[in-house]
Amino acid sequence: MKHTDIKQILDNGQNYLSADITVCGWVRTARDSKAIAFIELNDGTCLKNLQLIIEKDKVAENVLKDAMPVGTSIKAVGSLVVSERNGYEVQVKELTVLGLCPADFPMQKKRHTVEFLRTIPHLRVRTRYFESVFAVRSVLAQAIHRYFGERDYKYVHAPIITGSDCEGAGEMFRVTTHDWSTEFQTEEEYYANDFFAKKAGLTVSAQLEGEMAAMGLGKIYTFGPTFRAEHSNTPRHLAEFWHIEPEVCFAEIDDIIEIAEDFIKYIIKDVLANCPDEIAFFNQWVEKGLIEKLEKVVSNDFARLSYTDAIEVLKKSGKEFKYPVEWGAGLQTEHEKYLADEYFGKPVFIVDYPADIKSFYMKQNADGKTVAATDLLVPGLGEIIGGSEREWNMDKLLEAMAKRGMPTEGYEAYLDTRKYGSVPHSGFGLGFDRMLMYITGVQNIRDTLMFPRTVGSL
Ligand code: 4AD
Ligand code: MG
Repeated sequence: MKHTDIKQILDNGQNYLSADITVCGWVRTARDSKAIAFIELNDGTCLKNLQLIIEKDKVAENVLKDAMPVGTSIKAVGSLVVSERNGYEVQVKELTVLGLCPADFPMQKKRHTVEFLRTIPHLRVRTRYFESVFAVRSVLAQAIHRYFGERDYKYVHAPIITGSDCEGAGEMFRVTTHDWSTEFQTEEEYYANDFFAKKAGLTVSAQLEGEMAAMGLGKIYTFGPTFRAEHSNTPRHLAEFWHIEPEVCFAEIDDIIEIAEDFIKYIIKDVLANCPDEIAFFNQWVEKGLIEKLEKVVSNDFARLSYTDAIEVLKKSGKEFKYPVEWGAGLQTEHEKYLADEYFGKPVFIVDYPADIKSFYMKQNADGKTVAATDLLVPGLGEIIGGSEREWNMDKLLEAMAKRGMPTEGYEAYLDTRKYGSVPHSGFGLGFDRMLMYITGVQNIRDTLMFPRTVGSL
């Protein structure tokens, strides 16, 4: 259907003043007076609506009646005029109703709660709130690709179906084609007769494949969905989330921390520059002070603290925590919140965690107790990045696997990278949906993507 996008018209109106234009979209609001009707039209290309002015004697009465309900899709032909209030508006000469919208359309009401909108995920894209979320989501994804592309990283596609558990946390979804009942007597037989002739699952992280790719391509990143069968019913956990995982050869822990900080600042700056209307919307309706927060993040250094020092800070905080603070235990959300929100009030990298609470692949520090791992905690949200230098010494890696009772079976290819020309290397994983929460101020991860998958909900 030949027509012009509303974003084009509002951005470059001067180009469209001389001839008639055709616009298409959905009615956001409509009102009429005796002689004139006004329709605010939105086509999804930008947050702003285009105002249509309809002289009632120019359009058939029944067509106008059908066109007015909120949610109706229409096509209008007319001339673009400059308007003091709206920038540009269209004086309509021809109006066509494309799709009627009956009165039970749930978006009639001006403002719904996000909780209600979550029950109609397929329709919530027609609100300013979700139009803004998806605009920022799209720009953010492109900023990420641009960041790595400009720096000669190769974009690698890792498999989604995998046989190995990268994080070793036992949170893998199984992939099978077997029916609920089979004739097989043993586990071995069961898997041997399954589609892949072995136990398969959905990837929890592309890291292991990413490391193998980097060990030849030098610098890579992956950007894809990853899956965790965590029973965490929180505003920050998805069963299916989008994950960015760069892997960099010849980078040690300090190098990867520097890259992570530079990367986070770059993508925030990009969104601030390219989504001004959407960020202004979030600043007004979702998180007061959001713009100021983001501007401070891009213009200040992130903090850095060792896990051991973090434990001391928490102990001296005088706070009553629900979970005890002791060296060797994982940092709980309440601890992370205290460190990022109250103690630093800005993003902070915690480094050198106890080896026992982290994954097998992390570089063992000389103290024999900690690993060169880092989490980036941000105020209001907690962890958005998990990363580390990788253990590149074969013997130490094997030792760490044995200590965790991991088989070497299934990890042969990974181990080969340590056997043939092993190099120091590091990487991290950024949760894309969590990053979107941080940039928009959206409080629940279920509101950052079209169809969120969480425990008990598909
Ligand atoms: O800290 P995680 O588990 O680290 C890894 O998976 C490493 N293999 C990454 C690497 O070094 N290549 O996950 C990384 C990030 C977290 O910091 C968080 O932002 C996000 O992924 N994440 C989740 N986001 C939403 N829902 C979940 N269930 C998530 N689990 C992790
Ligand atoms: Mg983590």
